Amino acid sequence: MKLVITLIMLFSATTSSAEPFPKGDANIGQKLFERHNCNSCHAQLMSGDGNAIFTRSDRKVHDAAELLAQLGPCGSSAGIKLTQQEKQHLGAYLNRYYNLK
Ligand code: HEC
Repeated sequence: MKLVITLIMLFSATTSSAEPFPKGDANIGQKLFERHNCNSCHAQLMSGDGNAIFTRSDRKVHDAAELLAQLGPCGSSAGIKLTQQEKQHLGAYLNRYYNLK
């Protein structure tokens, strides 16, 4: 029984400390975000503060997969097709707001 508990604790420790966007660079993500005017729509939606969309109480993103999924349609809205690498950069940047594990 002790072994089982130890294993569960080990497992949750390794998964919860995992970096969600290991290949992303937040600073590059920030530049992409600014260059593509990502907050232009968000600011309208959130009456001024575009970044508030990431911390609103009914936000859509709750894990890394949902964040990556949102970047597809939002990239299209911004008129670009984001590469997997660019999504990792944007994920790393946006995780400053989301604090996903
Ligand atoms: C044409 C308008 C538009 C543009 C441009 C746009 N977005 Fe969005 N974005 C939206 C809308 C609308 C939502 C809210 C979707 C919903 O609530 O269903 C959203 C939501 C999001 C969310 C999820 C917020 C939450 O609730 O957790 C993320 C992340 C996001 N956008 C990232 C981006 C990024 C990165 C870019 C730039 C590449 C971008 N968006 C450009 C319209 C846009």
